[in-house]
Amino acid sequence: MEEKTAIKRIEELQYLINYHNKRYYQSDDPEISDFEYDHLMRELVALENQYAGHIDINASPTQRVGAAPLEKFDSIPHLSPMLSLSNAFSEEEIVSFDKRVKRLLDTQDDVSYVVEPKLDGIGVNLLYEKGILKSGSTRGDGAVGEDITQNLKTIHAIPLRMKSAGTSPIPDLIEIRGEVYIGTDAFKRLNRERIAGGDSPFANPRNAAAGSLRQLDSRITAKRPLDIFCYAMGFADPDISGFPTHWDLLQGLADWGFPVNRHIRRADNIEECIAYYREMIVRRETLPYEIDGTVIKIDSTDIRDRLGAVSRSPRWAIACKFAATQATTIIEDIAIQVGRTGVLTPVALMKPVRIAGVMVSRATLHNQDEIDRKNIHIGDTVIVQRAGDVIPEIVKTVGTSEHEDERSFQIPETCPVCGSAIVRLEGESAHRCINLDCPAQIKENITHFVSRGGMDIDGLGEKLISQMSERGIISDPADLYYLTENDLTGLERMGGLSTRNLLSSLEKSKTPPLEKFIFSLGIRHTGEHISKILACRFATLDNVMSASEETLLSIKEIGPEIASSITTFFREPSNLQTMEKLKKAGIKPVEGHVASGGLLGKTFVLTGTLEKFSRNRAKELIESLGGNVSSSVTKNTDYVVAGTSPGSKLDKARRLEVPVIDEEKFLEIAG
Ligand code: IVH
Repeated sequence: MEEKTAIKRIEELQYLINYHNKRYYQSDDPEISDFEYDHLMRELVALENQYAGHIDINASPTQRVGAAPLEKFDSIPHLSPMLSLSNAFSEEEIVSFDKRVKRLLDTQDDVSYVVEPKLDGIGVNLLYEKGILKSGSTRGDGAVGEDITQNLKTIHAIPLRMKSAGTSPIPDLIEIRGEVYIGTDAFKRLNRERIAGGDSPFANPRNAAAGSLRQLDSRITAKRPLDIFCYAMGFADPDISGFPTHWDLLQGLADWGFPVNRHIRRADNIEECIAYYREMIVRRETLPYEIDGTVIKIDSTDIRDRLGAVSRSPRWAIACKFAATQATTIIEDIAIQVGRTGVLTPVALMKPVRIAGVMVSRATLHNQDEIDRKNIHIGDTVIVQRAGDVIPEIVKTVGTSEHEDERSFQIPETCPVCGSAIVRLEGESAHRCINLDCPAQIKENITHFVSRGGMDIDGLGEKLISQMSERGIISDPADLYYLTENDLTGLERMGGLSTRNLLSSLEKSKTPPLEKFIFSLGIRHTGEHISKILACRFATLDNVMSASEETLLSIKEIGPEIASSITTFFREPSNLQTMEKLKKAGIKPVEGHVASGGLLGKTFVLTGTLEKFSRNRAKELIESLGGNVSSSVTKNTDYVVAGTSPGSKLDKARRLEVPVIDEEKFLEIAG
């Protein structure tokens, strides 16, 4: 075929397939058979391959849907961490943020900000290589996310190729960050369709977006009305701190073809930010998507770099949350939950009430002190509030029941699950069941052990764990590895296939990464972050188990409370017994090498071309030794590693007096 004719046919096929996609995915009303559709698609793929240089991949349906379903999501490390925002819940807290910024900058002058809506969706990271979308991932733990590339490609608002309009050159490698959401109308339509089709409706647009993004079959995602707004960038190479302000970056994003929210605005001082916040409280009602606050960001890139980040949030930005949405209802009863550590939590069981689109019927009452302080009784009429993801909470009672004495509530003296005595330790607000064999604790412990962040064992839901612990088949996590087909048959919903699948998942889980194994043990205060640090610092399970409090305290992120809970855990005979049992069952965490030298907790910035290894390799090396790599230089940077023809980061390092080292020196430090 002549080239001109071929290109024309490509354009025609792109149009046709896009048209049929719409009929199939959006209107559920296909006009042609799957066979005919596949035929068109095959012809297009063949022609596009032949004339690759001539096509607009943004328009091409071959790039968006059609990939085979995945077995599970892979993980993708972010090149620069995805931070979260600290929150302000009132105007006073917004003013304090501005004061803090001025104090840190040692100035009385007004600071210029950019204000944006805080979109209530799912944060994602898009990685572009030479302007082409290479991968897309969820935020995950901020360092590593889930690979949802296929799903993100189905979102038409996400450019597959960045546009080179405007004045900003496209970097070789750049991470773009934004929020995927479903608009309110589209959400209502989706739920109507789900109900009509016999599926349960999503609780709110955010859940619908999250559920749609986490589909293993991208053809399902393609049917969901997902959209995106972009608001930040992560790593970029060459470094484009070339954008002197955040405002310029947002313009750059728009030039590159990313949707940028149109309610963004520049503010010359904090008063203007507050005015915007008040305005958005009203405007929120008429926006076609949900927002849960506004975000204030310092405009100047230089000032941002100077301020850097604390823990996992930048010092240069704050989320101003809207006041929680409230509703009034009645407490019908108070139940007791026994947690993994034996803590008894009173939970109010309420007459179901709708708050911001979600039916709420349970609210935590935290502990007895809280119940007394708020003077809560069964039968009371109460104001309940929901704020974002937070578990619903009772704000106050507005009408007390008539028989106050009869209906007041006291945490019981014996555990509602095992009947053992309940104690309240000095200085603690919590009541605890101290029977380590309490089935409630066993169940919670095992649920935590098998969770995704832990041993990640499929096929072991809470119901099954309850059944097994109630029947005494398992009493600690190690027992799972001694289960036989005999133990499992006879349990509810455990047919031959489920039983074999479960036993095989257990078998497959025997060599977890060390950090996941540590997390799975459920040591108090030892979540995924601390588990990772421990695995990195100590490399082997034996080292972690024998670490002294003093050694633990030498680690930046570990304070006395965490150190003591770790050593206490590994001193407790019943825990040691479980560890021994796990070992005997063949559980062997994959161990690494000890992070040596001073890389643990050290932050590196790489600039220029490195000769000895690629940037990615250097990044891997630093991270494997416990350090982090950041894309911009701040006063928190420990070292800037400069290769040949370094960029503006070098100047910035000099200005901020951050040590600059070459590759040789870097290798020396890395040992
Ligand atoms: S900036 C460090 N801008 O809120 C800067 N985030 O609580 C991080 N979000 O993880 C992102 N709207 O998923 C930024 N206009 C906006 C946002 C926004 C919503 C989300 C985002 C982030 C979370 C932080």
